[in-house]
Amino acid sequence: MDQDLFHQGEKQEYKKAIIVGASSGMGKELCRILIRKDYAVGITGRRENLLKDLQLESPGRIFYRAFDIRDMSKTTRGLNELIRELGGLDLLVLSSGTGFINEDLDSEPEFQTIDTNVTAFTDIMTFAFRYFLKHPPGHIVGITSIAALRGNAAAPAYNASKAFQSNYLEALRLKSRNAGKSIVVTDIRPGFVATDMAKGEKQFWVSSPQKAAAQIYRAIVKKNRVAYISRRWRLFSIFLKILPRVLYEKL
Ligand SMILES: NC(=O)c1ccc[n+]([C@@H]2O[C@H](COP(=O)([O-])OP(=O)(O)OC[C@H]3O[C@@H](n4cnc5c(N)ncnc54)[C@H](OP(=O)(O)O)[C@@H]3O)[C@@H](O)[C@H]2O)c1
Repeated sequence: MDQDLFHQGEKQEYKKAIIVGASSGMGKELCRILIRKDYAVGITGRRENLLKDLQLESPGRIFYRAFDIRDMSKTTRGLNELIRELGGLDLLVLSSGTGFINEDLDSEPEFQTIDTNVTAFTDIMTFAFRYFLKHPPGHIVGITSIAALRGNAAAPAYNASKAFQSNYLEALRLKSRNAGKSIVVTDIRPGFVATDMAKGEKQFWVSSPQKAAAQIYRAIVKKNRVAYISRRWRLFSIFLKILPRVLYEKL
């Protein structure tokens, strides 16, 4: 174990987390919180300069690898290297995601969304689940979206991919239980958060990424199955779920 992973001379070992997609937004703010809460954190993203800047906030306790999660061999290599540097893994958070307003239904943005939010998501989730089966207990967190709940004409692939993610996380939770394992799986469903990902003009109940990350951390500590960010979005989710199709189509 690297000496840097210990408080000056004390025997206290840090908890170990990887945040996939921590170069900006909620992932970046969650990294800052985990550092304050005695974690060593592996961070990833494509924008290496931003990862480097974040690492400089806590050198020796933040490690980074820059890769595009759509490249599966680089993803596997990057995650394995981070786990080696951290000396193990307790928590994996997948925050990387993409989405486009696609009024004209061009195929390129749709496939780009599926490549990132479905294929790469599945690659990372299967990696994490199999890792924690071998190294229990483990905690997996996916940042999905309130968009998982209904279809959206302006961004068809985004909402559909988020529905896939939520459904997949539920399946992993069941798989862990059926196998008698203690892997915790948390589905974080943000409404609007003020990051580059917040698209569209009709935004309301917008949280700052700092507030969102604080609520994500709370859900991690409480081992929540599902958490809405901010919490008032839970009410909106109930409304969305019960809203009859004829009324939803008029929105
Ligand atoms: N903001 C919202 O209103 C909102 C609402 C609901 C759900 N969400 C979800 O929250 C998650 C985090 O987004 P955010 O709001 O924090 O936005 P953000 O600041 O744009 O963060 C997105 C992160 O994903 C990474 N990423 C995107 N494509 C990637 C790729 N191909 N390979 C590797 N990393 C990639 C980005 O890093 P690089 O660009 O450096 O690669 C960045 O770190 C997303 O899954 C998003 O769908 C956001």
